[in-house]
Amino acid sequence: MNFKTARIMAVNLFLILALPLLISAQESQHQPDPTWQAPAEEAAKTNPLPDKTEAAAGGRKLFLRDCANCHGQDAHGTEDTEAPDLHLPAVQKQSDGALFWKISNGNVKRGMPAFSRTPEASRWQIVSYLRTLKAGSDSTNSEQPESRKPESQKNDPKK
Ligand code: HEC
Repeated sequence: MNFKTARIMAVNLFLILALPLLISAQESQHQPDPTWQAPAEEAAKTNPLPDKTEAAAGGRKLFLRDCANCHGQDAHGTEDTEAPDLHLPAVQKQSDGALFWKISNGNVKRGMPAFSRTPEASRWQIVSYLRTLKAGSDSTNSEQPESRKPESQKNDPKK
């Protein structure tokens, strides 16, 4: 192998190794607490509410009442409470059961209260609402003023 091929290979190797890091850097503002994980049987629970659209509408009202003061009106998180953006893939990739468990139990030492006294059906309504925030189906995004968007989304023609 001559010097030129070796150099090309080194550059390729660098790109292959660096790409996942560059992609994950976008998400680095929030890492879910690894010690705060729903037990497997809780994470496997499915949302029992039959009409998810109706549930999400009710869930949005509950969210505005109980959650928005920390997570923001549009669930993009607030810096002063360190409540994360709930649109993030790190949150959305968790199962309905896992989100339900986190809402029910909280992570009090890190600032997330437990909502065990909120009726179960209301908690599932909130889960339905959180599901509407998945990238691409976010109706609240259009109302989002440019100044409140995360830095990575500002003036980026690719997005
Ligand atoms: C007093 C502020 C506060 C309120 C009120 C609050 N949260 Fe949170 N929430 C937090 C903080 C802080 C975290 C991050 C906890 C951590 O670092 O593990 C969090 C984490 C979460 C997570 C987990 C994100 C992850 O990393 O997996 C979910 C889901 C969530 N909150 C939903 C809600 C919902 C739904 C409500 C309303 C029913 C709510 N929160 C109300 C502060 C709050």
